[in-house]
Amino acid sequence: MSENNGTFVESIHLADHLEPYRKRLITANSMISDRYRAKESLNGLWHYCVDQYDTCLRSKWFEENYYDGDGRPFPLDYSFDTWETIKVPSCWNLHSDKLFLYEGSIVYTRRFIYRNHGEDKVFIKFGGAAYEAYVFVNKKYMGMHEGASTAFYIDVTDVLEDENRIVVVVNNTRKRTGVPCENTDWFNYGGLYRDVEILRLPKTFIQYFTLCLATEGKGLFATVQLNDAGAGSKAVLRIEELDIKADIDIRSGKGELMINADPVLWTPDNPKLYDVKVEYGNDSLCERIGFRSIEVVGTDVFHNGEKILLKGVCAHEESVLNGKAVSEEEIREYYQLAKEMNCNYMRLAHYPHSEACAQIADEVGMLLWEEVPVYWAIEFGNRRVYENAENQLTELIKRGINRASTIIWSVGNENPDADDRLLFMKSLAQHSKKLDPSRLVSAACLVNGEELIIEDRLIDYIDIVGINEYYGWYVPDFSQLIKLFNNSNPSKPIIISEFGADARVGFRGTKDELMTEDNQLYVYQRQIETFKQIPYIKGTSPWIFFDFRCPRRTHPVQNYYNIKGLLSADKKYKKPSYFAMQEFYASWKA
Ligand code: GCU
Repeated sequence: MSENNGTFVESIHLADHLEPYRKRLITANSMISDRYRAKESLNGLWHYCVDQYDTCLRSKWFEENYYDGDGRPFPLDYSFDTWETIKVPSCWNLHSDKLFLYEGSIVYTRRFIYRNHGEDKVFIKFGGAAYEAYVFVNKKYMGMHEGASTAFYIDVTDVLEDENRIVVVVNNTRKRTGVPCENTDWFNYGGLYRDVEILRLPKTFIQYFTLCLATEGKGLFATVQLNDAGAGSKAVLRIEELDIKADIDIRSGKGELMINADPVLWTPDNPKLYDVKVEYGNDSLCERIGFRSIEVVGTDVFHNGEKILLKGVCAHEESVLNGKAVSEEEIREYYQLAKEMNCNYMRLAHYPHSEACAQIADEVGMLLWEEVPVYWAIEFGNRRVYENAENQLTELIKRGINRASTIIWSVGNENPDADDRLLFMKSLAQHSKKLDPSRLVSAACLVNGEELIIEDRLIDYIDIVGINEYYGWYVPDFSQLIKLFNNSNPSKPIIISEFGADARVGFRGTKDELMTEDNQLYVYQRQIETFKQIPYIKGTSPWIFFDFRCPRRTHPVQNYYNIKGLLSADKKYKKPSYFAMQEFYASWKA
């Protein structure tokens, strides 16, 4: 062991080798409104290696110390450009059998050429890295991002050369202090599973742009935030179809404007979108935005001023072929299948799905519930865990702020009512309303199964209440369900955000035989008959649209899948319960 290679000696004695890296967190502040901005892809084959002991971060492989001060070669434990290759984006679990259940660090690296085209700022956007990502460009540490499901941006302006190397350490280890924590009911995918792209921008650019229906009166409300907090002058907003060209005064890098307008409102049946352009200096940003309102009055939900029922279904972000790296075609496929089931709404559980989901939902007309993975037994008393959760919520809201389809931000799922959990979740709910007063905030709550009543202190802080209940399945005594509803007198709309039962595709039997399609149908029929009797139920989203991979489900009939789907995992087969929901939604009236 060479005494000169301090890196090696130092590295094997470091107790917490990650602490120095954590000092440079990449957060929602790095986000850039980038819809339709020109991007150059860094997708493709990257070299990779499994790094179970995190040696890259410990021994600083990214510094590429090949020689000592006198030019003598050091012995190396890595070789970036002769490693095997993996496709980016993809989930490493589906790359090879040896990686299927791998949890830990994988080091990704590639070289790329960069030629300046006169731009002043250059960023690299990572669409998603599950779960932590540590990024190095040309031997320099750029920062780390925590959270598997939202994009992050890195300013590489000052480190780029003509020829560049990027190294990314991705670690998908489940952690007690993670968001989600180490125990979930879905498959733990890992990797650079969404696009990696280069953005070239002017020195002063539009960093964040929002446009929505004004909450008061007729018109639109626009906000613009530049990357330069000292910038002045004005931005110009154009919506040609509405004959709008409006100046937005900019002071200290920000501006906002109320604009008289009377747009055709966006609805699931008529998803009208407008082409929007906002310009500042030599930067311009395009968007396609639908305008609609969503609000709660008493126990009713109003969409564009009309009462609405949310006829939905839950979905994980997964396909058999691509895992969590779902394609746009796969998203369009399950929206079409949901529409055929007479859905106007989907609950994208339990974490932010690809940003394409809301963009496509805007086009095809699907209302969305989007959620952060504050799931089950999060460490609610841990400040850093809260900061992580709040950052993921901020990243979710900022990326979707202009999406007509998204009507609900959910701050979590099935967290038992406790003091530290209440403080954690109400803070998230209040943060959501502060960032985005135009949308409803919710959570999928548990019921009080002892007293058989809907009660949760969090209800005071959310607009619309999700209730997960599994009467007829995890609670076999179905008669408790109607008691629960009759004992409850909620002052806010209730969505049954989860109900359901397992059913193995094609497995038939009696209505009482668990895991058969017949039993699942029997559970659905009794659930539906009960919902019809309860006026304060304003939406349902059965769990779940399609079967999904889950390491907790080891019964041979399940075969490591959660089989509560209405569809098979490949979405090719419709179980009888799909048709029960299709019929219910066709006739359920507000
Ligand atoms: C829970 C949870 C889901 C889970 C489901 C089930 O309600 O929210 O994530 O998959 O129940 O047990 O199938």
